[in-house]
Amino acid sequence: MLAAKVGRSGETAGQLKSLKRSLRSARRDVLGTGETGRPGFLGIPERRAEMRECMVLAEEVAARFRTLIVIGIGGSDLGARALISALGRDDRGMEVRFIGANTDPEEITGLLRSVDLKRCALNIVSKSGGTIEPMSTFLLLRDRLIRKVGRRNHARHVIATTDREKGLLRSIAGREGYRTLPVPEGIGGRFSALTPVGLFPAACAGIRVTQLITGARKVRDSFVKKPSGGAPALFAGLQYHAFVRRKQNITVLMPYADSLRELGQWFRQLWAESLGKRTDRRGRTVRVGQTPVAALGATDQHSQIQLYNEGPLDKTVTFIEVERFREDLVVPSTLTDLDGLSYMSGHRFSEIIHAERAATAHALKRQGRPNGTIFIPEISGQTVGGLMMFFMAATAVAGELLDIDAYDQPGVEAGKRAMYGILGRKGYSRPGR
Ligand code: PA5
Repeated sequence: MLAAKVGRSGETAGQLKSLKRSLRSARRDVLGTGETGRPGFLGIPERRAEMRECMVLAEEVAARFRTLIVIGIGGSDLGARALISALGRDDRGMEVRFIGANTDPEEITGLLRSVDLKRCALNIVSKSGGTIEPMSTFLLLRDRLIRKVGRRNHARHVIATTDREKGLLRSIAGREGYRTLPVPEGIGGRFSALTPVGLFPAACAGIRVTQLITGARKVRDSFVKKPSGGAPALFAGLQYHAFVRRKQNITVLMPYADSLRELGQWFRQLWAESLGKRTDRRGRTVRVGQTPVAALGATDQHSQIQLYNEGPLDKTVTFIEVERFREDLVVPSTLTDLDGLSYMSGHRFSEIIHAERAATAHALKRQGRPNGTIFIPEISGQTVGGLMMFFMAATAVAGELLDIDAYDQPGVEAGKRAMYGILGRKGYSRPGR
């Protein structure tokens, strides 16, 4: 990321020095000692009662059902997907399926064809309870479930994760007698992966959720203790300077591990919805926000790297390297008479993927393309919980540096109102052509 490595498209020593000063005050502001209050996600490691509630309920549900169907969208969906794709790989837990993040009838029909609802629990996740994609899907699945098991029995299959007090889903749960888990007050959807929103599906999948919280706590503590906020703040600061000083308005996250693909999708929402804003805190029009891109190494070397290496100088790239994979394999010494293949023989696949990341970083550097790598020792509960806290803290710091509200999403409302009008919701008019 530094000018010393990539020239004019990187951060100079002088800029880095001044950035470190800004990071001190941004971190103070995130901690709530500045203009704004402390964001709820920083208190997640202390929410032990909710974590235990998830573990107990997950054990009960896993004993009774084969499959958990999680129904949610955005922040009520992507965190759980990221956790399960990274860590839910063994046979300890339930099968977890996801639906409700779209209203694509083919996808929903496909799910219904492939599960036996009698052996499924439904986890409807919606803070508001009014979001059309998951709620319409829930209404359908609930209806099909009732046809199979009867009105009285269906409630035993449903767990509603929603606001503790208000919202439509809270009322439905009360009326129907569903078990509930809370979406904690003060923790917005995209910051809620390590609350019951993500922890319950993770626990059902057999993931040790205590490890996630331990990892998150370590990163949170280091962010709180270090005057400049440590690594998450530095990441935020470098992206901020890339954006405001060098017009690098695209940021690519490229983990070199298939199981972190969904983490990239989770990050994409976090960075986009939190930082893409029209006005600053004083109401002035600023139109800020880098466009986050979720790429996958090494796969996207054969899809995206041509553009990243030779296209516009408008991006930063962040790789994630996993030092030790949970499994490894060796390329067999076979067909060694062929020059184009023989060099591969005897190399571990982990060695190859590491070489691919290092080579791509090197090539980008040679082209003057700023990039950085986050190294994690392995994919585990602790490192994934840590990565999530890292990116949430970084997002909060970036919000302070940009002087915007990172916790709202006013830009999605106009589309929602128009859709209500099109679908004939009372009180909303159909938009003109
Ligand atoms: O991050 C957010 O706040 C959003 O992405 C929400 O999570 C998403 O819109 C779903 O909202 P709800 O949980 O109310 O259904």
